[in-house]
Amino acid sequence: MKIRHAIFSILLLSLIATVLGADVVIAQARGARAGAAAAAPRAQQVHGTLLQVMRGILFPNSNVLFSSQSVDPASVQKDADPTASVNPLAGAYGGWEAIENSGLAMAEAANLLTIPGRVCGNGKPVPVQNADWQRFVQGLRDAGTATYKAGQSKNMDMVLDAADKVTTACMNCHEVYREKTSAQGGMAARCTK
Ligand code: HEC
Repeated sequence: MKIRHAIFSILLLSLIATVLGADVVIAQARGARAGAAAAAPRAQQVHGTLLQVMRGILFPNSNVLFSSQSVDPASVQKDADPTASVNPLAGAYGGWEAIENSGLAMAEAANLLTIPGRVCGNGKPVPVQNADWQRFVQGLRDAGTATYKAGQSKNMDMVLDAADKVTTACMNCHEVYREKTSAQGGMAARCTK
């Protein structure tokens, strides 16, 4: 039965090819190939300055972890409508899951700190090529992973340990690339050594 179907399909196709003309069929096949190429994954794109990535992703996600140093995530009451919550700990994916998610957000954000083409708030390029920048980014990645594991383990000691790692990871980079006194050039000197 199946074989008969296949034979019939081939006959039908060759009939169509004859009717339309082989050129049309070949052109269609070429078009399909071009379509497949266009659907390939697009290159990474930059949408915000480094300052915006810090304020929009790292600041809120690290605070989810930091606030849990003194409050057991499991004890956080869910918001009245958890699906509309602006507090990850009290939302639909709250409690310990929120610690996991903030850890992953920080680890994933490490990737955003290394893609080319991003500028800092002052217009200077993010120094992605510097060896110490890459080391600091790795520190953030490790701290984010430690946070994720703390969330999975539901262990308060691991939360404290992860919070320590995250604080250190943020600080190590800020000391070199963010904290610039006016004598050092202030904001305009950020993202340079
Ligand atoms: C690899 C380097 C690096 C790491 C790691 C890093 N930062 Fe930053 N951060 C910077 C730089 C550089 C700036 C200044 C950005 C600018 O002005 O464009 C900044 C700015 C900020 C700002 C904005 C300050 C302002 O002027 O408003 C916040 C908030 C911030 N970082 C939070 C964090 C937190 C929280 C972490 C850790 C979870 C972190 N950052 C990790 C480099 C880093």
